[in-house]
Amino acid sequence: MKATARAHTNIALIKYWGKADAKLRLPLMSSLSMTLDKFYTDTSIEKSSENTEFYLNNQKQDTESTNRVINYVRRLQNEFGFSDKLIIKSTNHVPTAAGLASSSSAFAALAGAFNKFYDLNLSDRELSRLARIGSGSASRSIFGGFAVWQKGHDDLSSFAYSLDENPQMDLSLLAVELNCQKKKVSSTLGMKQAQTSPFFDTWINRNDYELEEMITAIKSNDFTKLGELAELNASEMHALNFTAQPGFTYFEPDTIKAIKLVQDLRQKGIECYYTIDAGPNIKILTQLRNIKDIEKIFESEFNNVKIIKASFGPGLSYLD
Ligand code: DP6
Repeated sequence: MKATARAHTNIALIKYWGKADAKLRLPLMSSLSMTLDKFYTDTSIEKSSENTEFYLNNQKQDTESTNRVINYVRRLQNEFGFSDKLIIKSTNHVPTAAGLASSSSAFAALAGAFNKFYDLNLSDRELSRLARIGSGSASRSIFGGFAVWQKGHDDLSSFAYSLDENPQMDLSLLAVELNCQKKKVSSTLGMKQAQTSPFFDTWINRNDYELEEMITAIKSNDFTKLGELAELNASEMHALNFTAQPGFTYFEPDTIKAIKLVQDLRQKGIECYYTIDAGPNIKILTQLRNIKDIEKIFESEFNNVKIIKASFGPGLSYLD
């Protein structure tokens, strides 16, 4: 028997950047994201006659990523009382490790495939909790549209829920691939380092307020408010990295150039905002009428820039 699940990646508009418990991946803050239509992972699980193995895009992976996946699946097996050997195959329709948070779709798809393979009939809440243990951001990829991951206080209370599965907001995300090199500092390490910033407490203290404001922006269909808040929240996250001890950054020279372009476009009346995750690429939040102008300017300012247009994607689904 083979079970396959598909999960779409998500981009946080209010970011998860700091853990209360690294093993359980309990966050120090709640976060909110938009699930994307264009980027997703398909993962299948079947029985193995020998060892548990992991293939990504048809290739066996290095020990680090294989261990992360295999240890995760063992952990789920322990929780539910299974011990068989498995073959796990994932196909990523996401530029891996280019700052598009591919681990969000990866661990959500894996939790889904596990649920299907063992016929567990888990609820979305339970699936979100399990996905979270693999990678925090994956908790939100169980849901489509806008999702909130409430931080909770222990393993059972930290999961995501759907804020709006089918949003009507005119909101597009342009994923601008400036630099596709594999990122040097993983999110797991980056967020640990960020906790040494003297501004970290301020980051945590602002979380309730920023989350509530973002939820209000979404509920009142206020794109401007959503964009301003998302940009501020991302800038705060990256300011933590700059001010960590020792400091670091995911930005490359082209990241700064792209930030300034977004600011210039806004001055010219083309409304757009940026958000940036654990990598050098930027994602632009905008509305349908502005996409062409933004593409034109980015294509003229950067050589070989790749821009992928995305909008709202669906939650977890099962393929067979
Ligand atoms: C910047 O979910 O990749 O994309 O839980 O350690 O696997 P781990 O981290 P991960 O971190 C995502 C960080 C982010 C912000 C976000 O998606 O909320």
